[in-house]
Amino acid sequence: MNTNAKLLLITIDGPAGAGKTTASKILAERLGYKYIDTGALYRGVAYEAKKSNISSDDDAGLEKLCATLSLEFVRSEKGLRLFSNKSDITDEIRTPEMSMLASAVSARMVVRKYLLFQQKELGKGKGAVFEGRDMGTVVFPMADVKFYLDASVKTRAKRRYKELAGKKDSPALEQIENDIKHRDENDKNRKLAPLKAAEDAIIIDSTELDIDAVVKHMISCIQNLLS
Ligand code: DC
Repeated sequence: MNTNAKLLLITIDGPAGAGKTTASKILAERLGYKYIDTGALYRGVAYEAKKSNISSDDDAGLEKLCATLSLEFVRSEKGLRLFSNKSDITDEIRTPEMSMLASAVSARMVVRKYLLFQQKELGKGKGAVFEGRDMGTVVFPMADVKFYLDASVKTRAKRRYKELAGKKDSPALEQIENDIKHRDENDKNRKLAPLKAAEDAIIIDSTELDIDAVVKHMISCIQNLLS
């Protein structure tokens, strides 16, 4: 890909397991852009809240926590790592418990307000692919290109199952499907920045598409904007 290509800000929103992370990483790599996983930030808040015994509906506690938090992405040969107050929490935030807790804290105004600022800062300078739930609708409504990646619940659950298989305490497929449905419900129906496609988003259903086909389609959609 042309490395002198124009610097765009690209957003990819969608529900859990739709393939956003893999597609965002490959797309960013092909374009020479940075990749930002905003779900990791919500997971970071959830992880620190749990560590400090702050419940997901304790707004005063969460506000205090956010005021002292320092979440930072670091790129290393192991990929994009998330550090919280200087310790690497990348692996700890990837558990089913943290998925549910991240979804719960993400419905709180104090948390969204705190992370909105952080995300806008990260978006300065463009040349980035941002993955999340409200990237195209709330955080970057002026993004150059917006994608909304979806897939059937069954397909998303199977993908997550494969990802988690072999890991310690990996859940059964049925459990994963239920968790995904529960998270969809939370993320789509919350009052603040609910998960939905922006009006000007390009919607891609990846139920029947592999990741290469998804990225190929994305590149074909942005090709004319790059030169
Ligand atoms: O993408 P993920 O599964 O790592 O996200 C975890 C949770 O964080 C998700 O269920 C909802 C929340 N989230 C959000 O509300 N807004 C974002 N931009 C990203 C994630």
